[in-house]
This record gives sequence, structure tokens and C-alpha cells, in this order.
Amino acid sequence: MNTQVIIDTAKAMVAGNKGLLAMDESNPTCNKRFAALGIPQNEETRRAYREMIVDTPGLGESISGAILFDETIRQQKKDGTPIVKAIIDAGIIPGIKVDMGAKDMAGHPGEKITEGLDGLRDRLIGYYEMGARFAKWRAVITLGDVIPSRGCIEANAHALARYASLCQEAGLAPIVEPEVLMDGKHSLDRCFKVTEEVLHTVFNQLYKQGVILEGMILKPNMVLPGLSCPEQESLDDVADKTVNCLMRAVPAAVPGIAFLSGGQSAELASARLNAMNVRFKSRLPWALAFSFARAIQQPALEIWQGKEINVPKAQHVLYHRAKCNQAARRGEYNEED
Ligand code: 13P
Repeated sequence: MNTQVIIDTAKAMVAGNKGLLAMDESNPTCNKRFAALGIPQNEETRRAYREMIVDTPGLGESISGAILFDETIRQQKKDGTPIVKAIIDAGIIPGIKVDMGAKDMAGHPGEKITEGLDGLRDRLIGYYEMGARFAKWRAVITLGDVIPSRGCIEANAHALARYASLCQEAGLAPIVEPEVLMDGKHSLDRCFKVTEEVLHTVFNQLYKQGVILEGMILKPNMVLPGLSCPEQESLDDVADKTVNCLMRAVPAAVPGIAFLSGGQSAELASARLNAMNVRFKSRLPWALAFSFARAIQQPALEIWQGKEINVPKAQHVLYHRAKCNQAARRGEYNEED
């Protein structure tokens, strides 16, 4: 294992106030987003959509890495250029989602366990050869009256650490993503408590399994009130709770924390990231960055509509959202944007 290479990759993923673009929706998820807008759901449309994204002029100014799905890493642009080459030529590091999805957890009603460890060592070797230099694995924690259970949190943390260790062995920097979902009516404080417990459990497993913290990126949820909670706290309250939670649980050796957006609007995700950096950036050991899918893509997808003629406009909006999040990393995001 070349430790320094992995550490350099992780550092590069959060350098220059840039962030990650998650464009790794599985086929069912991508199809669901297309269906909601009446866009045809097939391989060619998914390919054209991803080509539109990676061809966005200037995307590399604010995006350090792009997370791909298995189908996409094997695809080419219409002119035959491999998508991976287009990404590298844009100055962006290619990454790959390697989990096989969150499945119902046996004996744990309402909870999920992420699958994909079997055969992962060989798949990682294949992805490295295809050009990927980092990977992603998402664990899902659902909040309810009596969940999450310790069993669910521990099983997911264990799987995340096993995945992360395999990635580093293969020369890939792992993105470790434990997502506490926004769905539900839980309070901000409940999300804080659960997120804190989840992160402690994850870092305990990462330690036990010998993962090099300097060579990984944490991708957590922001600490937020549930979507249907009547009390929705201010930007500053969310920023304070999120950063306080992370300070308790994330070792200083981790180079960067890149949030998922989780279903927040593009504007709110940028505004919350901005508030965190305005209030805390100068005294944090790690970078506070982004690894958004919907909060960067959704406005562009709505304009694209599956039509070639809309490509330049959609790219313009995608470029803009990516830039907004770079500004949010500096604490200079303008909420009207
Ligand atoms: P969202 O930003 O849409 O939550 O997606 C991030 C992601 O990669 C989820 O795994």
C-alpha cells in the first residue's frame, strides 16, 4: 500500500475550496429522478445526461472529484472519448460508488444495512485500473420512535470500516458516508444525539480496523431537524449544532468533511455550509466541504429535460451551483444566488 498517495488524494479532494460532485445515482435512483420530469429512463439517456455534466465548461474550477456509478465509469461520450478521460482532462479526480445499496436489515424492522463487501477487493482493483482514485460507500441510518438500534449502527459502522480498509489497500481514498436521514418529525437535538453516536461508532471501527484517517474523507449528514418537524431552526443554529457535533466525534487527522445534501434545496444546502464556514472555518482542524448530488444537479436536471438543445443552459446552472458551493466553503456565498 502506498500510504502517501492515498493521503495526497484525500488532500486533493478538499483542496482549493473545491468539493465533490456526486453523480453516482444507481440506475433505479437515476431513473426515478428522470421519471419525475418525464425524461426517458434508459441507458442512452443516462449516458447523455452524464456527458452533459462532465462537459460543463469550467467545472474543474470548483469540483475536485466526481463520484461515478458503475455504468458510467464504463461509458463513452458520443464522440467516443471515455467519460473517465473527459473527467481527468477537466482537472477532476474520478471516483466510484462501490456499495451495492442499502437493503432491509434482517431482524431490524425499518432499518437498513449496506451490502457489497463480498468480492470488493477484486472490484476495487478493476476500478483502479479504470482510473478511479477514490471510492464511496453509503450507510443509511433511519430515525424513528425506537430506531436506530445499536445493532444497525454497529453493523453499518463495521461494514464502512471494512470497505475503507480494502480501499486503502487498493490505493483508493475512501469516502466514508454514514447518512442519518432527514425524513421524520424528529427534532434538531435528536438528530444531534444520533449523529454523534453514529460518528463515534464509525470512528471506533475505523480505528479498530486500522484505517488511515489522513487518507479518507468523511461524508456525513448536516445536523438538521426532521423534514416534518414543526420547528425548523435558523442557519446559524444548524451550523452551530453540526460543527459542535463533528468537533466531538471527528479526529483532527481527517483532512476533510464533505457533506451530503440529503434532499435539502440547493440554496439551503449552500447557505448552511456557508454559515458553518463563516462561523468556524478559522478554528477547525478539517476542511468543511461538500459532496452534493441533488443540491448541485437538480436545478440543471430540471432545465436539461433530456433535450440536447437545453444542454448549454443546464451546464450554466450546474456550473453556477458548483461555484456557489465553492463560495460557501470560503464563507462568501450570497444567499440570493
Ligand atoms: P445528495 O447530496 O443528493 O444527498 O447525495 C449525496 C450522495 O452521494 C448520497 O450518497
